[in-house]
Parts: sequence; C-alpha cells; structure tokens
Amino acid sequence: MVDSLKKPDLQELRPGVKVPAKETILTPRFYTTDFEEMSKMDISINEDELQAILEEFRADYNRHHFVRTEEFQQSWDHIDGETRQLFVEFLERSCTAEFSGFLLYKELARKLKDKSPVLAECFSLMSRDEARHAGFLNKALSDFNLSLDLGFLTQSRSYTYFKPKFIFYATYLSEKIGYWRYITIYRHLASHPENRIYPIFNFFENWCQDENRHGDFFDAIMKSQPQFLNDWKARLWCRFFLLSVFATMYLNDIQRSGFYAALGLDARDYDIHVIRKLMKLQAGFFR
Ligand SMILES: [Fe+2]
Ligand SMILES: [Fe+2]
Repeated sequence: MVDSLKKPDLQELRPGVKVPAKETILTPRFYTTDFEEMSKMDISINEDELQAILEEFRADYNRHHFVRTEEFQQSWDHIDGETRQLFVEFLERSCTAEFSGFLLYKELARKLKDKSPVLAECFSLMSRDEARHAGFLNKALSDFNLSLDLGFLTQSRSYTYFKPKFIFYATYLSEKIGYWRYITIYRHLASHPENRIYPIFNFFENWCQDENRHGDFFDAIMKSQPQFLNDWKARLWCRFFLLSVFATMYLNDIQRSGFYAALGLDARDYDIHVIRKLMKLQAGFFR
C-alpha cells in the first residue's frame, strides 16, 4: 500500500530545521551594495514624497495583522505527497525572499543612519515589515514540522553585489511584483474559497499593501535620482531588469505549476496576469 501521508523527503539540518534549498540562478538572492554611494545621494528634489511615505511607514497599519488565528491550530497532514512538498517549497522560498529583504533593508538603515536619516528610517521600518513577513512564513513552516534557521541562512548564503541604481531597479520590481502576486492569489481565493487550502492566504490582502508601499518608496527614490532613469543606458538597464525578473518568475512558477494547480490556478495564466498588471499600472518608466 502506498503511504500517502509519508512526509516528503526533505533534508534536515537538525530535527525539524530544514536544510536551505540549494542556491541556483533561480533561488531568491541576498544583496549587498555600495553603502557609501547611497549615503551621498541627494534626495532633495523628491524629499516631500519620501517624507510622506515615511509617515505612512510610521503609521504601521499592519501592526496587529500578523497574528496566527485559531484556523492554524489543526493537523495539516492531509496536505500530503507532492502537494505538501510544493507547499513547503513555496513557504521556504517566500520566507527566504522576505528575509533577504529584511537583511538588506536593515543593513541599509544601519549604514545610512548618520548621513541620510530619512532614507535610513524608511529602510528601518521596511525591515520591520519584512521581518514580520519572514517570521510569519517561518511559523507556517512549523505547521509542516519544519523551520528555517535564519541565522544560518544569513551566514551561509552568498551575497550578490549591485550598484545602488541596480538595487533600486531590482527591489522596486520585486516589491511591486510581490504586491501583484499576493493580491492575485488573495482575490482568486476570495472568489474560490474551496481552494483555500491553508489559512496563510487570508493574510495576503493587508500583507501585500506593505509590499505596495515598499514599491512606492523605491519609486520615490528613483524619482529623486533622475539620472537613474533618464538616459538611454538607464532605459536599457531597466528593460534588462524587467525582462530578467519576468523570466525568473516564469521559469520558477512553471516548474512548480502543481502548487498553483492546488490553489485552482494555472501557473502560466497567473504569471501573465501579474506581468500585465505590473506593466499597465506601475512599470511605466521600465518600458
Ligand atoms: Fe515582504
Ligand atoms: Fe517588501
């Protein structure tokens, strides 16, 4: 008899602590940058907008949002076999990506503290949000008897260096894509509640507003640095980033189409929807 409840074959660092997924070109990355150059940026031409965004971050709308409800308190063994494996992978990849944001923003907050206080505080408050997101996902992993050792992840991952303008292109796109990915799943499950197989998706509506605000912050920074957007070289780089972000997302999701199918989504249609929304509403200057 096939034991359909058998735990998927996942390697463990210690009992219950998952070995991080192997790094490939498609896994979520960890970034570092030229902090000195960033601290010297003159943001005065768009300071009002940045200040307004800082006020929004301070308001901390999701302060009480990430609290686990009773719905989580049950056995999740019925999510089994390949679906369970894909589910764990989804949680791990999402947790790693959120944690990568936390580390980068935290480091930026620390390095810019004395020289660029408005940016430093924005980064610090965004790192607060990302830590919440990563922590919530890691807690979800514990429902599947696993967790990620985030301290180990911090030390064992390699860091990709990008100049500040490339950091801005990459983080702007990943925040806005994150927004569209979360809200699309949320809206789909709101109209197909029978596919809501795990309660974390109920949290996506407010959660994605954090990502949207983070994206707005990077939009405002880039507006304060028109040289990052206005010449032909910058335009080519923007297109290159847009293309590589879309390609990475598509390849990742197609490989894991079973996860989306478990939610009643077609991975290809889902990605096309996310890309269309982003292109139509937000990535104007990336076109
Ligand atoms: Fe996040
Ligand atoms: Fe974010």
